Amino acid sequence: MVALESPEAFGGPKDDHGLSDPSISVVIPTRHEARTVGPFIRRVLSALPDEQAEVVVVDDSDDDTPSVLAELARELDRQLVVRHRPKGSVTERSLGSAVAEGIDIARAPHVCVMDADGQHPPEVVHTMLSAARMTGADYVGASRYVPGGSAEGLSGPSRKIASLLFAWLARVLFVCTPVRSLTDPLSGFFLFRRDIVAAVPLKPIGWKISLEILIRSRCERVTEVPYRFAPRTDDSSKASVRQGLLVLLHMAALLASLAGVRRMVAFTVVGVSGMCVNIAVLQMLAWLGQNAFGWPIWLATELSILWNYNLNRRITWRDRRFSTWWLYNLAAVVSALLAIGATELLVNDLLVPLWLGAMAGIASVTVLNYLWFDNLVFSTASWVERRTRVKVLVQV
Ligand code: GDD
Ligand code: MN
Repeated sequence: MVALESPEAFGGPKDDHGLSDPSISVVIPTRHEARTVGPFIRRVLSALPDEQAEVVVVDDSDDDTPSVLAELARELDRQLVVRHRPKGSVTERSLGSAVAEGIDIARAPHVCVMDADGQHPPEVVHTMLSAARMTGADYVGASRYVPGGSAEGLSGPSRKIASLLFAWLARVLFVCTPVRSLTDPLSGFFLFRRDIVAAVPLKPIGWKISLEILIRSRCERVTEVPYRFAPRTDDSSKASVRQGLLVLLHMAALLASLAGVRRMVAFTVVGVSGMCVNIAVLQMLAWLGQNAFGWPIWLATELSILWNYNLNRRITWRDRRFSTWWLYNLAAVVSALLAIGATELLVNDLLVPLWLGAMAGIASVTVLNYLWFDNLVFSTASWVERRTRVKVLVQV
């Protein structure tokens, strides 16, 4: 009997596994695939006859799959690396964490991730690898939604609709990332250059590790090849409503991790707090018997500008070394005047209702302010450094 949980049982300790110089690592997560996994791994290896291919399986099964894998590992020797994770051995046994662990074990310059149930045809791996080598792409996705591909293997219309909706949502939410150029960014079948994830901690929520890689790694160039998603031989997919909710949670976490989005959220919160300061000062002076539309409105405005400046400097743009307060102040005053002008124009000349006009006025200058602050007021270099940089460029 082999001690399945120990990596030594599958061909040497952790640092001495697999081929010494593989050209491709195929990472396969498995859970309860005893019946199909053996023939499937053989199919993968025979579809890559000209490669030094290693297969890395991370298995979370409680059935016979581990013994099937152990048997195969003895036969295939260093071409197959198996990491079995018995119940309780890791904090979370899941498809996502299994793939992340497999990627960590993989050694080749290119890593392909695919399912063990036969829904991802092994013959496509070679096409993906060639595409990566030919184009130099960081990430090659296998897509069901480009000509030549097909999603017929998705069980039932609800999964088909959910799959398309999630892919669309990902492209919209992550329009500033490589995700926008992919038709099937959430597919579990993809290949990438291992160096783009070096030192990047991958901790997916749920199972969409492709999204995790596309957003957290140094991935820039992406491409796709078509594939036909085959039907599952037994209908026991682990997809569920809970998994769907986890995908949404994962997307929210990734979105919040993007620097630009974090900044915009902080900017909005600071802006709202400044509005409260403005109103509070104005109200207090009015209670003290002052005419709010005389000097108090200017004092309240200036105090809220200074309030916002300090919070934005400490929170929103805290990663920028330099800030120019007078430029901030100037921008804020000019914006306030522009907002008043725009509101007057909309309400008086174009007969837009007051609330709508005021909202449009404030919204337009908020965007203007953000761009002004982000590009001119808060900077990584001082004004002197900015000038020197230009000089250096000219010398080159
Ligand atoms: N290690 C491990 N742990 N493997 C798991 C686990 C787990 O908890 N759950 C599932 N697997 C393995 C399965 O054995 C299979 O090889 C693969 O992960 C995919 O599981 P399926 O249950 O077949 O998923 P699916 O077909 O519904 O979804 C697949 O297609 C989607 C495209 O619509 C996956 O590839 C998804 O990632 C993909 O988005
Ligand atoms: Mn499947």
